[in-house]
Amino acid sequence: MYRSHTCGELRIESVNKEVTLSGWVQTIRKFGAITFIDLRDRYGETQLLFNEEFNKQLESNPLGREYVIQAKGKVLERSNKNPNMPTGDIEIEVSEYTILNKAATPPFTIEAETDGGEELLMKYRYLDLRRPPLQANMELRYRVNRSVRNYMDGAGFIEIETPYLIKSTPEGARDFVVPSRVHANQFYALPQSPQTFKQLLMVSGYDKYYQIVKCFRDEDLRADRQPEFTQIDCEMSFVEQEDVLQTFEGLTKYVLRDVKGLEFADAFPRMTWDEAMRDYGNDKPDIRFGMLINNLKVRGVVNSEALKGIEFKVFDDADSILAITVEGAAEYTRKQLDELTNWVKRPQIGMTGLIYMKCNADGTYKSSIDKFLDDDRRKTLAEDCKANAGDLVLVLAGGEDLTRKAISELRLELGNRLGLRNPEVYAPLWVLDFPLLEHDEEEGRWVAKHHPFTAPKPEHIELLGQPDRYGDIKANAYDLVLNGTEVGGGSIRIHNKKVQQQMFTALGMSEEEANEQFGFLLGAFEYGAPPHGGIAFGFDRLCALMGGQESIRNFIAFPKNNAGRDVMIDAPSTIDAKQLDELNIRLLEVQKEAGE
Ligand code: AMO
Repeated sequence: MYRSHTCGELRIESVNKEVTLSGWVQTIRKFGAITFIDLRDRYGETQLLFNEEFNKQLESNPLGREYVIQAKGKVLERSNKNPNMPTGDIEIEVSEYTILNKAATPPFTIEAETDGGEELLMKYRYLDLRRPPLQANMELRYRVNRSVRNYMDGAGFIEIETPYLIKSTPEGARDFVVPSRVHANQFYALPQSPQTFKQLLMVSGYDKYYQIVKCFRDEDLRADRQPEFTQIDCEMSFVEQEDVLQTFEGLTKYVLRDVKGLEFADAFPRMTWDEAMRDYGNDKPDIRFGMLINNLKVRGVVNSEALKGIEFKVFDDADSILAITVEGAAEYTRKQLDELTNWVKRPQIGMTGLIYMKCNADGTYKSSIDKFLDDDRRKTLAEDCKANAGDLVLVLAGGEDLTRKAISELRLELGNRLGLRNPEVYAPLWVLDFPLLEHDEEEGRWVAKHHPFTAPKPEHIELLGQPDRYGDIKANAYDLVLNGTEVGGGSIRIHNKKVQQQMFTALGMSEEEANEQFGFLLGAFEYGAPPHGGIAFGFDRLCALMGGQESIRNFIAFPKNNAGRDVMIDAPSTIDAKQLDELNIRLLEVQKEAGE
């Protein structure tokens, strides 16, 4: 028997018991003739006391950090208790110990706060995973997973697995492809999501499907994106949008209660996509704080009297002028304002400058463009921006898309700086009525905002026949947003072959192309497809949010780094010539070396 108890288990009640513990040596502290060792496992740490006799043994056969040992001994009440440790009332007086395995000196300290840099932690991920915060994250992930399964089971869903080696189909991001050996020159793709399969399962009559499933997308990485990530993927038949929203609002409430003890008595707030863009500048508003956007000028239309007839080139030239009011910030110093100005000028934000107006406590105003804003205009501007004495108005002007994105980022940045984005506060929100299509300026064509299987709102179906109205079509598509992160997205699907074909046409696909890529789905729709809809949650994101963090990386046991590499196993990597031969693949090495 390696252990009678874990290292996090023993309390004062166990005094005088003979116990056996196994674990990793966390710290070694020598005090004259005695030595204290903290022994660690997944459950906690326990102090071991090596008395004089053992101290000698330790000298001839020393222990080191991260050695795996087994220790037997008696539980004693500590004279010097540690209230910060759950086991801090006791220690084990060791009567026998065995080194189960030695350990090389770890490349970083294995403690809650480590001294290891990002790359080092990733290279030795198995050591990083020993650290208590990571262990807490893995446990949280497991609890969320279990909670989701409980709810889905209770709601009558069954889990069905779908394949990972599938056909490459455009779904938004790039596919990861896998060459076939047996079928030379042909490739599988890894699924970006099980979207088409879950729709086929609806045709097959499995009216409540779910799956906790890996998805693969070859896209640029960010804190909340990984090339392989996990979805809670769901689909239901004979449902309308409201049924789906109710079911998955139920799931979200259940998991937040079960895992975090949070109660949400009220229905989650809802907002249309148009409102989200207008008031928050993005489709995933963080509603933990206000600071709504004031739309002073939008796409050339001036809405604020303060700006009408003003002779200021920056405003004249601007497609849109958007402002936010920062409560109580009129006292910002010149230095702080300069710093904010530099912040919006960074290439990631891309604005040419920042205009401000202070609404002083004494009722006067001071703006960075006083030359152009007389007193009346300043007063009107303050009113239009709902700014009171003591507030600061920040104004950005430029092209609509750039400016809206910039003001949205500025709002979030100020939210961070002012401590308005408390990770302990959970603010869920449904965003509804997404546009069906969006114009891709680079490619000069319409693309699906969600994916090609999303149904237009019934009253907009006829617009699918009018290319000049594509931009007006709204979809029965919805996102669940939590604290400014999109945790889930879904839609009611097209279940009618003709509408699906119209959609492909809108996306610039000929009937032949559509048939080649999605023939299996269009074919299935001829054999009795029920009305259906669904949603997928980003499981990693949900876990990270529940752990109070933005980055999903530390909620995945073995994630990829920023460059999409696994530096621990060194992937991706080259494969040998024989494998390439079998796959009928020849590499363009010369070109690669030339950096082409
Ligand atoms: P969507 O593409 O919106 O929808 O994805 C669903 C959710 O998955 C999460 N997510 C990601 N998480 C981590 N890394 C990524 N690279 C990543 N990409 C997406 C997000 C997102 O909300 N088949 C549809 C769902 C449906 O219509 O039912 C789909 O995949 O949290």
